Amino acid sequence: MMILTIASSKGGPGKTTMAELIVCSLASEGVNVIALDADPTGGLSRWATRLYEGPTFACHHEADEARLAHLIHRVAQEADVVVVDTAGFGNRAATVAMTAADAVLIPMVPGEGDVTEAARTVELVAGVASAARREIPSRVVLNRVRSSTALSRHAAAEAGPLPKLEAGLSDLVAYGEMGFSGRMPTGKAGAEAAALIAELRTIGFLPAAVDNTTSVKTKYVKTTRLGR
Ligand SMILES: Nc1ncnc2c1ncn2[C@@H]1O[C@H](COP(=O)(O)OP(=O)(O)OP(=O)(O)O)[C@@H](O)[C@H]1O
Ligand SMILES: [Mg+2]
Repeated sequence: MMILTIASSKGGPGKTTMAELIVCSLASEGVNVIALDADPTGGLSRWATRLYEGPTFACHHEADEARLAHLIHRVAQEADVVVVDTAGFGNRAATVAMTAADAVLIPMVPGEGDVTEAARTVELVAGVASAARREIPSRVVLNRVRSSTALSRHAAAEAGPLPKLEAGLSDLVAYGEMGFSGRMPTGKAGAEAAALIAELRTIGFLPAAVDNTTSVKTKYVKTTRLGR
């Protein structure tokens, strides 16, 4: 069982997109994955119930920090992987989700202030880990990269000292479309998602792949709304 929390102090760098992509990818491999939406706005759980088309996963929505702490522990008993999507961490539920995590993924888009915000999130995870007296590794993952632009190159260079994944996501319409279509992107976006999952496995942020594709069921998403 692994709990992967996706967090950032800055709004909009792609937390929910990344959560959708990871949950979708794992569910389509037949991994027993549970999505936990800790953002009060509930974008991930709305997407999971109304739009998602693919193999089964359960999705819970809980933004109250006290109830979330109990819920994470409970769903972790039932799943091989729990992916937690959070709001910015002025929100206490996000801090609970970081504290409960085995690993934290921090999406970062190229832009002014984004490197600083990503560094703050790395620092917060380190602080939470130290308070909990255990290791909670974190990695920055670049999102919406336009490899040809100076801004993207600058952001990648600036993020240099931060713990960063090799894998990243380009700025592609396909990711935005996933939010509307509920389907796993194919083509370049699909390949980037596969590379992201592979690297997360290599560094131990996700458990190793198992060949259980025969257990994959057809579309059915169970969502329990427990939060406000
Ligand atoms: N790689 C990408 N390419 C193109 N569009 C993207 C990409 N990643 C995210 N987006 C778009 O950017 C917007 C913000 O992404 P998303 O909602 O995932 O961010 P977030 O970090 O969850 O935001 P919030 O902090 O508000 O929860 C969405 O419209 C999404 O479709
Ligand atoms: Mg979001």
